Amino acid sequence: MKKEKILVTCALPYVNGLPHLGHLAGCLLPSDVYARFNRLVGNEVLYIGGTDEHGTPSELGAKKEGIDVLEYTTKYHNLHKDIYKKFNLSFDYFGRTSAQENTELSQQIARELAKNGYIEEREVEQVFSIDDNMFLPDRYITGTCPYCGAINARGDQCENCTKVLDPKDLIEPRSSVSGSTNLEVRKTKHLYLKLSKLSDKVRDWVNTRKWNKLTLGIANKWLDEGLDDRCITRDLKWGIPVPTDVFPDMKDKVFYVWFDAPIGYISITKELLGDGYKNWWLESCGAGDEKYVEFMGKDNVPFHSIMFPATLIGANPDYKKVDTLKGLSYLNFNGGKFSKSAGRGIFADSAIAEFPADYWRYWLIKNAPETDDTDFTFERFAEEINKDLNDVLGNFVLRVLKFYNSKIGSTLQHNPANSEKEIAVKAELKTRIESYTNYLSQMEFRKAMAELRAIWVLGNTYIDEMAPWTVFKTDAEKSGEILAFAMNLMRIFLVLAKPVIPETAEKILTALHTSGDWIFDVEVEMNSITKGHEFEVPSSVFTKITPEKVMELNEKYNAKK
Ligand code: 2FM
Ligand code: ZN
Repeated sequence: MKKEKILVTCALPYVNGLPHLGHLAGCLLPSDVYARFNRLVGNEVLYIGGTDEHGTPSELGAKKEGIDVLEYTTKYHNLHKDIYKKFNLSFDYFGRTSAQENTELSQQIARELAKNGYIEEREVEQVFSIDDNMFLPDRYITGTCPYCGAINARGDQCENCTKVLDPKDLIEPRSSVSGSTNLEVRKTKHLYLKLSKLSDKVRDWVNTRKWNKLTLGIANKWLDEGLDDRCITRDLKWGIPVPTDVFPDMKDKVFYVWFDAPIGYISITKELLGDGYKNWWLESCGAGDEKYVEFMGKDNVPFHSIMFPATLIGANPDYKKVDTLKGLSYLNFNGGKFSKSAGRGIFADSAIAEFPADYWRYWLIKNAPETDDTDFTFERFAEEINKDLNDVLGNFVLRVLKFYNSKIGSTLQHNPANSEKEIAVKAELKTRIESYTNYLSQMEFRKAMAELRAIWVLGNTYIDEMAPWTVFKTDAEKSGEILAFAMNLMRIFLVLAKPVIPETAEKILTALHTSGDWIFDVEVEMNSITKGHEFEVPSSVFTKITPEKVMELNEKYNAKK
């Protein structure tokens, strides 16, 4: 099998606000499973994540907590990092966009864009809040909607009638930061990325992409509507300073958060590898033959399919650009949205305190919101954890190991059976492993999980039919061989499950005293646990979630409100 070089990035979550199950299902976990799977089959993987830290929300969040912005983002960066560690996300590096490397690289890219004629300075009018002493981003201006009369319309859009607004349209505008109405329109200068001039180059590049329909649809729609030049600077303190050597009028301006955030993927690689980042990001230094896969929520697709590639194309065509873009939909909570302010839904920190990471990982990958939004309910969660993990996988492991150990001992006295039945099971296993592998390679997580479950079911059906417990009464030898076959199946089940439920897989593989290497040849691997092999019996594998617990969770996380 030819080894591939794969760069995997997971959209960098905003540092303010902690992740909920939707973030895990819609980006973090799928990217981790994909990275783990590729490492397991022997590919060279670099998996990059981090927090997106700049912009107004961080400034306001820090103000609210009465601390310095860097202190604030450091606090939340560490919280994100700790939570992801608990969910066993296997980032090679989890960095931050406020790191020095990102400042340097974003400034360098801006200089390259300017040199190539893709940045223009323009004078614009913007709302300034005298009492807050700041220019207000459109969405931080609130007022009455001139179209429907809603009193809490935001300067960029009225949520009530969905009309896109200009803050100057609002009736009785006020600052959402302080509520002050002491506002005035001031002239200020900003930098614009000339997307209109880059449009043909971007279109040519998009035409070379083998993206799925959804992604191509989003990219082409934007291209067809025409790319408007985009403002890439803001009047804020918390951001990457615009370099005044090339833009002398831009003193005290910073880059817009969406300009520097995706550059974070590159700079975070640099934080980890120093100059070695070039092997992953410059085509002339080895990135030419790698596959670059980006994971993100669907709302991020326009930025990753057009805006970020345009930035790189305009700066230096040698930069590696995305090959496969996996955009996922949203996960809802009992038919509604997760809301921290309304105390509705389970957030990642509470989730991990309730159940082990593997329970969440299993359910959220099995139900990954790939094509449509998906609904999380504690009832469905409990049902699938109980059925799939407890009844199918856990029971199989315990039944086989406990029986062998109690009747014969913890050293295997038999080689695996190899009659017609076992030959048929191996043939089915081989076909199913191939399709599981294909689905994971294609990032089709739901289909992959259905296949994994079917593989586990194969084991249960086998021992139900072969009934080694009954056979033992008349033919202990045959019973031992059936159980030895089942133990080899068990090893394969857990190796296959490693990308999804790494902790459980490790625990059982350790009890089996066996390696977790990938299954390249079913016939060989089905003879890896043989006579003389010692094993241990784990005391438990999974624990069932009771109806009482489901009721308690519904109550605690406001599921039914
Ligand atoms: O939607 C979000 O949470 C953004 N912070 C994603 C940024 S992805 C990348 F560009 F960094
Ligand atoms: Zn309105």
